[in-house]
Amino acid sequence: MCVGACYGFDGGQASGKGKNYMATMTGITTMKAVTIHRYGGPEVLSYEDVPRPEPSADELLVRVHAAGVNPVDWKIREGLLGKAPLPQILGSDFSGVVEAHGTEVKGFNIGDPVFGVVAEESGSYAEFCLAPPKRVAIRPLPLDDVHAAALPTASLTAWQALFDVAHLAAGQKVLIHAAAGGVGGFAVQFAKWKGAYVIGTASGPGVDFVRGLGADQVIDYHTTRFEEVVRDVDVVLDTIGGETQERSWQVLKRGGILVSLVKPPDQQKAAALGVRGEILYSKSRGDQLAQIAELVVSGKVKVHVEKVLPLREARQAQELSQSGHVRGKIVLVIDSQGG
Ligand SMILES: NC(=O)c1ccc[n+]([C@@H]2O[C@H](COP(=O)([O-])OP(=O)(O)OC[C@H]3O[C@@H](n4cnc5c(N)ncnc54)[C@H](OP(=O)(O)O)[C@@H]3O)[C@@H](O)[C@H]2O)c1
Repeated sequence: MCVGACYGFDGGQASGKGKNYMATMTGITTMKAVTIHRYGGPEVLSYEDVPRPEPSADELLVRVHAAGVNPVDWKIREGLLGKAPLPQILGSDFSGVVEAHGTEVKGFNIGDPVFGVVAEESGSYAEFCLAPPKRVAIRPLPLDDVHAAALPTASLTAWQALFDVAHLAAGQKVLIHAAAGGVGGFAVQFAKWKGAYVIGTASGPGVDFVRGLGADQVIDYHTTRFEEVVRDVDVVLDTIGGETQERSWQVLKRGGILVSLVKPPDQQKAAALGVRGEILYSKSRGDQLAQIAELVVSGKVKVHVEKVLPLREARQAQELSQSGHVRGKIVLVIDSQGG
């Protein structure tokens, strides 16, 4: 069935000879995308025409309607996470419609509204991206593209840190650093949904924002040292690293756990204190995204999008993200002319 931007469905194999995928359209060979040809500051971002990707037998080709922006995007741009061959299309999170799929793909059809995380070699700051089905979920229709694109990396990271690594349970106490940020905002809401007592750190207007997300206690990290007012915590979610991580050990109760997203915790220190320290590298899981989308649709979790920009403004989006002071998420939208 075709519900999105479908036209010219040829009802079978893509017209290119020997292509092993099902497609809605033929003849489009280029697309708009935001790429880098060298690593560096925001000035290296280039909005340009690039070849449209083709799905392999086990991939989806998605027409991207919106792309979520994450700090990892500018870290990749700067070459801080290793140096892959260039040019490269940036962006990992997307929401859109299945345009085509490989012959081995099961569970997705052309025209399905989907959201998720791109394949390794692909990027979501583009009109089209590739994604393996296991990284993708069907977008429930009450959830629009902008809010769906804001979900994948941030919400999966919060979910996996709290539930897969820390096994947070009802009645436990959790301290969430940068609770107004992309990951922190979801973590506060997931932890409350689970029945935990939630403490968040934020500053200025972020304090009221985090309270609005349901936190029981919010500490303004500009005016109060959290370790002076928090103790006996079961779980710390460390989104900051550095001295914030160092100062976090002392708020944990014996048997507690610190989960960091940014810096491997010192194992000797953890052992000496009778606590655990883990680093999380989040996994892109469509099954968990589907669960999270249900929470959003049922109103239990809100998705706060601070800024929506057209694809061609990716530089502004990344500069904002890199400032480190966004509340919630930034999303790029791609219109029919490519953004
Ligand atoms: N390992 C993984 O798999 C993984 C996955 C996702 C993200 N990450 C990493 O986790 C970090 C957080 O990601 P994110 O998407 O949540 O970032 P983000 O949305 O950019 O976080 C911005 C928030 O951080 C707050 N903040 C900055 N410094 C703070 C401090 N010292 N104490 C408390 N709050 C502070 C800001 O509040 P103010 O404006 O009040 O300062 C702002 O609301 C990033 O470094 C990201 O790369 C890792």
